[in-house]
Amino acid sequence: MAVTTLLTHIAALVNVREENHLPRGKELSQLPCINDAWLIIEDDEIASYGAMTNLSLKPANFQFHFNLTGRYVLPSWCDSHTHLVFAASREDEFRDKIKGASYADIAAKGGGILSSAKKIQEISEDELFNQSYERLQEIISFGTGAVEIKSGYGLSLEEELKMLRVIKKLKERSKVLIKSTFLGAHTFPTDYKNNHGGYIDSIINEMLPVIAKEKLADYIDVFCEEGFFSPGETEKICNAGKQYGLKPKIHANQLTATGAVQTGVKLGALSVDHLEMMDEEAISELANSKTIGTLLPTAAFFLQMPYQPARKLIDAGCAIALATDFNPGSSPSGNMNFVVALSCIQLRMLPEEAINAATINGAFAMELQHKVGSIAKGKKANLIITRPIPSLNYMPYAFGSNNIEKIMLMGDWM
Ligand code: NIG
Ligand code: FE
Repeated sequence: MAVTTLLTHIAALVNVREENHLPRGKELSQLPCINDAWLIIEDDEIASYGAMTNLSLKPANFQFHFNLTGRYVLPSWCDSHTHLVFAASREDEFRDKIKGASYADIAAKGGGILSSAKKIQEISEDELFNQSYERLQEIISFGTGAVEIKSGYGLSLEEELKMLRVIKKLKERSKVLIKSTFLGAHTFPTDYKNNHGGYIDSIINEMLPVIAKEKLADYIDVFCEEGFFSPGETEKICNAGKQYGLKPKIHANQLTATGAVQTGVKLGALSVDHLEMMDEEAISELANSKTIGTLLPTAAFFLQMPYQPARKLIDAGCAIALATDFNPGSSPSGNMNFVVALSCIQLRMLPEEAINAATINGAFAMELQHKVGSIAKGKKANLIITRPIPSLNYMPYAFGSNNIEKIMLMGDWM
């Protein structure tokens, strides 16, 4: 017999969408809600919902009943860009950064991604799993119910496999839905500093075949940036990934606007992510494409980079998502609540736009829109229950408060 739960007197059921349509441009400001609502959960799925005025069933017919007066119910956050498998934090660089070093300065001195790569070599797969599992538990408590996780601190066949196997194990052991991305092209390892072709060959001919054979990745990513991978190199690597069925999701226009977005669009990337440095051409190409623009405002916040031009992107008609970029170098936080608040405060997104971008559009950016991202019959019961709050706007407004009371994942209270 199915386990049934009835939630009643919900202040508002937020982002109720049965159809799977990717909101873009103006549509992002429409957040469909049902005020004074009820919701029924059967096992791990949303079974039905409606307004309290139309509730004909009695609480006694359910195994569990919760009266949620004053509380809002949202679909869990969908965080479509993280690097949460890493071996050590980098707060030493944080000190250098406070004193004025830029992200590029730190990378040029062998810090940054290369220092994280060294730590991956020194850690066992089990220990890496344990650390990463703890981070996953933390983001669950912040309301995340689906997450994409990248490799990219391995930079060799053996070490990239270690990271991807950890992600696979996280998929198997966690209630959060997880997508895995191969980011061998995160930077050039020291041995290949003057032999870019050699490293790209190793990605294409050594790493990709094994990763595909062991089904360790859903997507392929490249850090397309000056001083990292050029647009031409990005195309070569992503086209090789596509041969194995891995769609590109690329790091684009974080530090410079040198054609990465256009490269992503040309490749038919599922998403181009970061977008701190956008010019008119990049904005219009993105707006006229199927590619999702994923904004990572906490990376801009932490690196003191210009914020993503969300208003321009929305006005141009782009489909945008929001994600944390959780990683030890540019965004040591996996808190989607802060991402949503920062998007309202600094990117001038309306709460409705930010919530859509952090739920349904994040789900689309992981091709999980059939399972999560909105309140819909048959979708997974991955839910955020707020504390009693005066309105939904209060969530991003009270940015330093914990506005979440309870989390449900796959029908279970966490
Ligand atoms: O998305 N930009 C490239 N990669 C990460 C940072 C990785 C790191 O510094 O460890 C990012 O910001
Ligand atoms: Fe990233």
